[in-house]
Amino acid sequence: MIINERTFVMVKPDGVKRRLIGEVISRIEKAGLRIVAMKMLQLTRAMAEKHYAVHKGKPFYDGLIKFISSGPVVAMVVEGENAVKRMRKIAGATNPMDAEVGTIRGDFGMVIGRNIVHAADSPENAKIEYSIYFKETELVKHKMIDEEWIYE
Ligand code: RTP
Ligand code: MG
Repeated sequence: MIINERTFVMVKPDGVKRRLIGEVISRIEKAGLRIVAMKMLQLTRAMAEKHYAVHKGKPFYDGLIKFISSGPVVAMVVEGENAVKRMRKIAGATNPMDAEVGTIRGDFGMVIGRNIVHAADSPENAKIEYSIYFKETELVKHKMIDEEWIYE
């Protein structure tokens, strides 16, 4: 168990346009995770290609790059115990049709290419991803007041 693991989360353009930013943030907060950096921006094509570099060459890659850079996104760095795994669970399976009800994608998504939120799949990739959007000095070191009630 890694305490204060970091992950990277992004509300994708569909989530922003559908006014789901608050919903996503609310679920992160209620889970007990800690947001340590956040910003809204529109990705350039270069940023999108960097973000989804692992998918280069796949059939859905071009559409994915076009979509993720098509409108504003909200990028976040989130910390907590097993934050990567916890956040992937909160997001739900990649395809909303396979995502459990109670997850973000399961509650709000219909198709794989419009699944509202991105969550890093490993601490290593989280760091690579958040480094595209944030300088290390932009991550705020802080503790939530209820952490002694969230953790034992
Ligand atoms: P993400 O990176 O966005 O958090 O999603 P993920 O890990 O659950 O899924 P990943 O395999 O990394 O795929 C990245 C995004 O590409 C889109 N996708 N479309 N049409 C398709 O078959 C397909 N497969 C993936 C999804 O929007 C997915 O979130
Ligand atoms: Mg992924």
